Amino acid sequence: MPTDTGAQPAPGDGHRLWGGRFSVPPAPALEELNRSLPVDRRLWREDIQGSRAWVLALARAEVLSQAEARVLDAGLMRVADRIEAGAAEGAADEDIHTLVERLLYDEVGEVAGKLHTGRSRNDQVATDARLWAMQAGARLQAELRALCAALADRAETVIDLLIPAYTHLRRAQPVRVAHWLLAHFWALDRDRARLGDALQRVATLPLGSGAIAGCAFGIDRTLLKDVLGFERISENSMDAVGDRDWVVELVFVAALIGTHLSRLAEDLIVYSSEEFGFVRLPEAYTTGSSLMPQKRNPDGLELARGKAARLIGDVAAALTLLKGLPSGYNKDMQEDKELLFGALDTLFNVIPATRETVAGLAFDESALARAVDDDGLLATDLADELVRRGVPFREAHGAVGRLLRLADERRVRLAELPDEAWSQAHPKFLAGGRPHPSPEASVESRAVPGGTARGAVEAQLAAARAALASGGHGG
Ligand code: ARG
Repeated sequence: MPTDTGAQPAPGDGHRLWGGRFSVPPAPALEELNRSLPVDRRLWREDIQGSRAWVLALARAEVLSQAEARVLDAGLMRVADRIEAGAAEGAADEDIHTLVERLLYDEVGEVAGKLHTGRSRNDQVATDARLWAMQAGARLQAELRALCAALADRAETVIDLLIPAYTHLRRAQPVRVAHWLLAHFWALDRDRARLGDALQRVATLPLGSGAIAGCAFGIDRTLLKDVLGFERISENSMDAVGDRDWVVELVFVAALIGTHLSRLAEDLIVYSSEEFGFVRLPEAYTTGSSLMPQKRNPDGLELARGKAARLIGDVAAALTLLKGLPSGYNKDMQEDKELLFGALDTLFNVIPATRETVAGLAFDESALARAVDDDGLLATDLADELVRRGVPFREAHGAVGRLLRLADERRVRLAELPDEAWSQAHPKFLAGGRPHPSPEASVESRAVPGGTARGAVEAQLAAARAALASGGHGG
C-alpha cells in the first residue's frame, strides 16, 4: 500500500507544479526522461514576459487585487534578474515554468501560488515557444536578407564576366556570373517570402486556452495579444494547445533554406576546385589539412552542405511527432522545441559564414575566359543563326551537330574548319556569310526578361534590389 508521504522533494529544490494526487514521487528514471529544463530554459525571457502579461490580465479580471498584481510583477522582474545572473545553471526543476514559479515563491512567498490561476503549462508553453519563434524568425529574416544582399552586391560587380552554365554538370551555354549568382538569390528570396508567410501564422496567441477548454476567468485575450505583440488570438482552445503545425512550417522553411544553401555551397566547392579554378574562396573561410601542407579546404561550405541533412531529417521528425496524436496536448509535443531550436540555431551558424564567403569571392577572369572559349557552348547560337536564315530548328540542330563532329574528327576549332566543311554540314552556313559566334554575342542575344543580356540582367538586379527592400519578392 502506498502511504501518503505528503509533498515530495524534487531533486535539488522541492518545488513541483503538481503532486497532490500522488502518494509517491516520480521515479528517478521518469524524472530524467520527463525533464525538459535543459532544452526549454532558453525560453525564460518569454516565460517571464508571458507571466507578466498574465498577471495584468488576472488583475483586470479582478482575480488578483492591484496590490497582489504589483507584488507578482515586481517579483517576476526579480526572477528575471536572478535567471540572468545564472539561477538556471544546474537547476534540477522539471521545466522552465517550474523554475520560474519556484524562484517567484522565493521572491514573493505564498502569493506566487496565485499566478497559475486559469493558466496551464499547455497554453503557457505554446505561448512561450511562439514568442521565441517570433523573435528568432525576425532574426532569421534579417540574416537571410543579408545573405541575399551579399549575393546581389557580388552580382553587381561581375556583370561583365561570363561563366559556363551547366546542365548535367556538362557545359551548356555561357551566362553572366551575375546571372548565376542571382539564380541563388531568387531561391533564397522565395525562402524569405515563405518565412514571412509562416511567421504570420506563428503570431497567433494561445494564452487563455488553459489546459484544453479555455479559461473560466474573464481575462481579456485581446489585451494579452496586444501586450505580448501577437497579431491575433486563437479561435479554438483545443487547437491552440494541441497543434504544432507552425513548428512544422518553420522547420520546413529552415530545411528548404538549408537545401538552397547546400546547392550554393556545392557550386562554390566545385567552381573553386583546382579542376575548375573559376573562383578563389576567401582564405579566412577555408581550412588546412593536418597532413597535406598544400590544402585549402572549403570546410565551411562543406558544412553548409552537410548541415542540410539534419534540417531535412527534422522536417520528418516534426511531422511524425504530430502524426496520429489524439487531439489536445500530448507530452510528445515537448519534443517540438529541440527541433525548432536546432533548426534555427543551425541556420544562424551557416548563413553568416556563407554570406561572408560570398562577399569575399575572388573570380579568376582568365580561368573563366578560358572556360567560356568553348565551341560547344555556342552550338545553340549556331543553330539559332540557321533558324534566322530560314532553316527549321530541328534541321539546324542536326547541322550544328554534324559541324561539331567534323571539327572533332579533324581535331580543330570551328573557326579553323574550311568553308567546304561548313557547307557540308549545311549550305545555309555560307549563305549570308560564315557565322562568327562569340560568348559575348551569345549572352547579349538573350534579351528576354529573365535572360542573360546586359539589359536583362540589369533589370533583374533592379528587381532583386526591390525584393530586398520588401519582405521577399517570392517570384
Ligand atoms: N515541458 C512541457 C512542454 O514543453 C510543458 C507543458 C507540460 N504540460 C503538461 N501537461 N505536462 O511541452
